[in-house]
Amino acid sequence: MLKRKVIVRGFAVVITVLNLLLIAYLVIANDIKKRTEKIYAFKEKTIAIPSDSLSIARGKHLSVIKGCQDCHGADLGGKLMIDDPGLGVIVASNLTGGKGGLPQDYGVQDWMRALRHGVGRSGKALILMPSHETALLSKADLSALIAYCRQVDRVDRPLPANKLGPVANMMGYLGKMPLLSVEKINHVAPLRLEVDTAPGPALGEYLAISCSGCHRADFKGGDPIAPGMPEVPNITSSGAVGKWTQEQFISTLRTGKTPTGHQLKNEEMPWMMTAQYDLKELVSLYLYLRTIK
Ligand code: HEC
Ligand code: HEC
Repeated sequence: MLKRKVIVRGFAVVITVLNLLLIAYLVIANDIKKRTEKIYAFKEKTIAIPSDSLSIARGKHLSVIKGCQDCHGADLGGKLMIDDPGLGVIVASNLTGGKGGLPQDYGVQDWMRALRHGVGRSGKALILMPSHETALLSKADLSALIAYCRQVDRVDRPLPANKLGPVANMMGYLGKMPLLSVEKINHVAPLRLEVDTAPGPALGEYLAISCSGCHRADFKGGDPIAPGMPEVPNITSSGAVGKWTQEQFISTLRTGKTPTGHQLKNEEMPWMMTAQYDLKELVSLYLYLRTIK
């Protein structure tokens, strides 16, 4: 009799705990759902988009060093980034005018809303699009980037719709995954007009925005950015990198091989992207990171 009572009570505890977990999860899923369905109304001015070959070449370079091609594909025709029962389905849009791509009347203002505010045409947040980084691009760079994207060949590539899975909901809720860049952007910050273009720490600081997503805002690294990934190292003067020469730093970012002979994996540290930075940009990154104690 007594034994049965204990078992029944044990069951009751397990069921209560499961119920609580389920409720907690439903609260989280509902919170993320609300945040992804919220409609934002940002007024974004349009900017002049150049068409000269120098600006188009600059835009192409930016699409490489800012990772647009990594997520949206080398042809910008879009890519299924994640398709996993836990994380869900996450698709980087087809940015061309082909089938499954941007609508014919997708205008400069739409590009600006996406790149400066992290919001799509419907007014809803773009998911996992790093607009908190593109929002900090200078006017000249933004216009060159948009100019390049708007003239790439059309790619017919219809892709499935985004659908966040339970793990993505949880990680987004806990701030472990940059799901909704719209929430991280200072939407009233003016468009940056001037950026130092001479090699040096100022240019390096501007470029290092692209490293901050993983190496953190202070570049001192921290926990892995996703389960199963390595710790993110400190790349300031107080980390191991602080003892490297400029040549060693540049060689690491171009070959993925560190001075100790460690081969970085591109999926963990995107060195194939940093390999495309030009010499002036790599020198500037080095000079800037050295100024951080
Ligand atoms: C980490 C991956 C990633 C990177 C890097 C990235 N994007 Fe995206 N981008 C996405 C995803 C995912 C979406 C789709 C978001 C959605 O549908 O909610 C998206 C959406 C967009 C959209 C909105 C398209 C639409 O359908 O409204 C534009 C425009 C865009 N990206 C341009 C760019 C440009 C330009 C760059 C480079 C500066 C870039 N992206 C870099 C992942 C990325
Ligand atoms: C997607 C995340 C990500 C981005 C973006 C990124 N890194 Fe890294 N980086 C890593 C990780 C993770 C490692 C460690 C990899 C390992 O241990 O194998 C690393 C390692 C490094 C190393 C080697 C450090 C050492 O002590 O061995 C350098 C240097 C570096 N990154 C510089 C940069 C610079 C500069 C940028 C921006 C231009 C950048 N990274 C952007 C994730 C990233």
